[in-house]
Amino acid sequence: MPVITEIEDLKRIYKRRVPKMFYDYAESGSWTEQTFRENSSDFDLLKLRQRIAMDMDNRSTKTTMVGQEVAMPVALAPVGLTGMQHADGEIKAARAAEKFGVPFTLSTMSICSIEDVAAHTETPFWFQVYTLKDDDFMKRLFDRAKEAKCSALVITVDLQLLGQRHRDLKNGLSAPPKLTPASIANMMTKVQWGLGMLGTKRRFFGNIVGHAKGVTDPSSLSSWTAEAFDQSLDWERIKQFRSWWDGPVILKGILDPEDAKMALNVGADAIVCSNHGGRQLDGALSSIRMLPQIMDAVGDKIEVHLDSGIRSGQDVLKAVALGARGTMIGRAWTYGLGAMGEAGVTRALEVIHKELDLSMGLCGRRSVEDLDASNLLIPEDFA
Ligand code: FNR
Repeated sequence: MPVITEIEDLKRIYKRRVPKMFYDYAESGSWTEQTFRENSSDFDLLKLRQRIAMDMDNRSTKTTMVGQEVAMPVALAPVGLTGMQHADGEIKAARAAEKFGVPFTLSTMSICSIEDVAAHTETPFWFQVYTLKDDDFMKRLFDRAKEAKCSALVITVDLQLLGQRHRDLKNGLSAPPKLTPASIANMMTKVQWGLGMLGTKRRFFGNIVGHAKGVTDPSSLSSWTAEAFDQSLDWERIKQFRSWWDGPVILKGILDPEDAKMALNVGADAIVCSNHGGRQLDGALSSIRMLPQIMDAVGDKIEVHLDSGIRSGQDVLKAVALGARGTMIGRAWTYGLGAMGEAGVTRALEVIHKELDLSMGLCGRRSVEDLDASNLLIPEDFA
């Protein structure tokens, strides 16, 4: 067993264990992948201020996100197809998050269904919906999430159109994977992954197949996706979705201060400053660079979370110091899942927690609540 001390270690194992098609699906950004790269590299522009002799004993990373207690300001972002990264992947990840004390968000595009995950966990999870045209299907999804006692609804608002990802098109991404000579040859080298897949019946999109009109055959899914997303989405419709859900609503995919103000107007409880991990509008600024503007616009009126590019506890610290109440991680937990299943997701959370806790202490802070911009050295042209 290799020693795992950083997220990059999990990524290396993940790459070895999972078929290329699914590794590429997680690793890709849209078009030139500029935004994908800058999401991470822009964190490096923010420097931390080292402080000493400030009593760093008894530290705590605990806080709340949408009023719910969390062990650290990190939630697992919704990631589609994770049941293809590891057999029953969504259940494994939800269990790891539950044990660690952070929220797990189940994607609409998951392999395990809402009911599957609810049956294998005790702590309520968050559910993510895409904005689809079909109101009946949307209402059914909301009802299923209510029945599963989901504790927050994450509405992803940055995917009316799908950003083009070259690698997925070239690989012919599908779930389950299409059998071509190249995909078969590649999968034959992924023995553990293959045995896991043989041992589970969960290989299709559990929230969609059999629930969405016309989708009984998963091979029709790509055409269904192209037809199903609501390209005419507007704020009135988002307001309507808000009214269908009694609990906390988080709007994910806000990258502009004007949109942040609109989110406030429709009654969202929180927003996620996010560019979908660089998978949508290539050329957009990184989330961490947009965060200060978003905070100026709405930071005192609504909870702001941030995702896109987080690979370490230091990244979490920087986002929180700039005002985010919490963060979401996408690829970081996906690497862990593909590498080692539930244990890998736990390891990803442990790594980030340790980095956050120690770095917070080295900045002279004992609690995440005490972090603010004074912990950072921010370049003048950052925001
Ligand atoms: C995503 N993301 C995503 N978001 C969403 O709302 N629903 C989804 O189904 C998916 N699916 C998905 C698949 C994969 C493979 C990735 C990498 C991402 C976006 C995700 O929730 C989050 O915004 C980003 O992953 C954050 O960026 P990092 O942490 O991956 O850099």
